[in-house]
Amino acid sequence: MDQTNTMDQSTTPAAVKADTQAEDVTESPSKRMKLSHDTSPADKPASTERRKGIAPIKAEYLIDMTKSSAASAEADDDAAEAAGKTDPKATAGRGGPKSKGGQNHNRQFGNSRDAIELCKSRVHVNEFSPQACQFGAKCRYEHDIRKYLKDGKREDLATFNSLCPIFEIKGTCSAGWKCRFASSHSKEVEHEDGRKELVLVQKDTQTNGTTDDDDEGVSGNGVVNLVDAATKIKLRKKIFPTPKSDQYLQWIEARSKEDPPDEPLVDADGIEITNGKHDNRATYREPPLKPSEKRRIYYGPETPILAPLTTQGNMPFRRLCVSLGAQVTWSEMAMGLPLLQGEKGEWALMKAHESELSPPAYSGKTVVSDYNNSKDLKFGAQIAANKPWLALKTTEVLTALAPHLRAVDLNCGCPIDLVFRQGAGSALLDSPTKLERILRGMNVVSGEVPITVKIRMGTKDNHPTAEKLCRKLVLGTEDSKETGDGPAGVAAIALHGRSRQQRYTRSADWEYIASCANLVRKLKTEHADAVDTIHEPDARDLSNSTTATRDGMPYFIGNGDILSHVDYNTHLNDAGVDACMVARGALVKPWIFEEIATNQYLDKSATERLGYIEQFARNGLEYWGSDELGVGTTRKFLLEWLSFSCRYVPLGLLEHLPPKLGDRPPAFRGRSELETLLSSGNYKDWIKISEMFLGPAHKDFRFQPKHKSNSYEIEAEG
Ligand SMILES: Cc1cc2nc3c(=O)[nH]c(=O)nc-3n(C[C@H](O)[C@H](O)[C@H](O)COP(=O)(O)O)c2cc1C
Ligand SMILES: [Zn+2]
Ligand SMILES: [Zn+2]
Repeated sequence: MDQTNTMDQSTTPAAVKADTQAEDVTESPSKRMKLSHDTSPADKPASTERRKGIAPIKAEYLIDMTKSSAASAEADDDAAEAAGKTDPKATAGRGGPKSKGGQNHNRQFGNSRDAIELCKSRVHVNEFSPQACQFGAKCRYEHDIRKYLKDGKREDLATFNSLCPIFEIKGTCSAGWKCRFASSHSKEVEHEDGRKELVLVQKDTQTNGTTDDDDEGVSGNGVVNLVDAATKIKLRKKIFPTPKSDQYLQWIEARSKEDPPDEPLVDADGIEITNGKHDNRATYREPPLKPSEKRRIYYGPETPILAPLTTQGNMPFRRLCVSLGAQVTWSEMAMGLPLLQGEKGEWALMKAHESELSPPAYSGKTVVSDYNNSKDLKFGAQIAANKPWLALKTTEVLTALAPHLRAVDLNCGCPIDLVFRQGAGSALLDSPTKLERILRGMNVVSGEVPITVKIRMGTKDNHPTAEKLCRKLVLGTEDSKETGDGPAGVAAIALHGRSRQQRYTRSADWEYIASCANLVRKLKTEHADAVDTIHEPDARDLSNSTTATRDGMPYFIGNGDILSHVDYNTHLNDAGVDACMVARGALVKPWIFEEIATNQYLDKSATERLGYIEQFARNGLEYWGSDELGVGTTRKFLLEWLSFSCRYVPLGLLEHLPPKLGDRPPAFRGRSELETLLSSGNYKDWIKISEMFLGPAHKDFRFQPKHKSNSYEIEAEG
């Protein structure tokens, strides 16, 4: 069943291999796709020629929309990117209801809770061995396990063969009696005196896991970078020490008082005119701290990168992508201030799965001196900050408390107003001097963790500034040349080939990406000249400085519109980037990483695609928990993902390859009912799909689709 129809590298379906074996045996034969050689575009009438912006679906799969009630998802990637970051408190801390995993909650998804909630003191114990409840008579939760099971919780789920998927793997279930599969790990035993007791079963000698009240992660479930509640309280009370940042910031302040830098002059559009250069800049002053030697990282053709994705790039999704071949993963963007204030929700974003700790692929073809692949890992954290103090302290705290980080990336691409207005995200593109100070400072306090940066082409359309910025990131700004501080020392620059203003309206500009990549390569030589100015930068300021191939130059990564291994390879070769980053392409088809690894099109069957959805559901239950709340959270994030994955147009339905991310499909049916269902843009169908693994949605479950389409009625959400 787990067969995959493969297509070779050619870009016409004529090259599709006839592979009848690979057909989806579970699906009705009448709807099976025939992969054959009879579909060469050369044989086709002109009407089947590729039309810009429209997915070229074979005529036999098109459906007449006038007769169809199917609602289609009108993709709104701007809304998707901003989702979860529109809360006015977003930069100060996230409001909204608390939920497991602490994700973004500004779009309400209801409260999936038990009708009667079981007291924590009862969750993991047998009926006759109750623990004392610390709230005694005042406790408002249920203490009678039988009553809770009968009236408090919904009936157990019949999915996964009624077997708790967590218990099946772990031999224990952290949700205890609250698990929606509790009957698969509990029983009633009769004692000698005839009394009957409800007991929880364990597969082995492990003790029951505990559902941590403070969401320190379902530890023991392969989750790392957990921060305990006591530490978060210290952060909240501002008593968690940040000695490196304090010392460095004091020094900066003292220096600026002696020698106040000019603020860069900006024009009406916010574009910097001067570079903040001060005429009588004083001589170099030795900073009190230098960056530590950084752990070497590697980016190459063999390391396709999963982009940072707010809401979508949650741990269960990243885990799925890693299993399909993603070699580098990024956290969702976390805001500096709430991290620094110990906010649970923001710290939850820093959690990684153990599979993200394994080293990225490394062929060894590119020799990078001092690179030790076995010390490298996949997962990095992305943060947003608008001021040096915030960025430094956040970085210091983060690298102190989350030990498993490949790198810390500063977001300079986030387009949303809220972040932009505060001077973070893409606003930093227009303040290169400030940006450099931020990045340099992050480098000083991050220990061995390299600092990277993700940028856009610029803030304004038709006014790309990234090339200039790359020069400054590599050689240093005028300011740092004057002060002798040298360049910021980023280990990598990732460029999304769009401006802030442009959002997702047009294709990413890979020509521009190529020119920046070119420049960065060229600067290698210029850099050699630049270092013999006033002060030779300390080798430690340059995060990859001793690498044989890089000569202190950052890796350069391109990002935008990659939907297949063909896009990936083309851009790698033509744009001359070190590696490519994939965002929406991975949401639409996470097996893009498998395509890249195997260098071939994979026409996944609907059953296989459903298998990935199942995998997400399993990952989600393991991470968010298998109780009512965890099932609700898993469903919410599954639906978020389905809002992207429904955009996948099965390869076998296409008249022309390659598929394009910007193409919108006309209404079509799939080769099976399941394939048609998986392509539905109607969120009611997404709920239906979620129910295959998570059972009927809770009566209070809500899902507010982010798409602009008006075919979603709020009425139907109840
Ligand atoms: C839903 C969504 C969420 C995103 N969240 C982030 C984020 O947290 N941090 C970031 O740097 N970029 C974010 N981006 C931008 C992507 O990382 C990427 O740069 C952009 O989507 C272009 O790549 P693509 O054409 O492969 O989608 C987001 C994009 C989308 C669609
Ligand atoms: Zn109690
Ligand atoms: Zn369970």
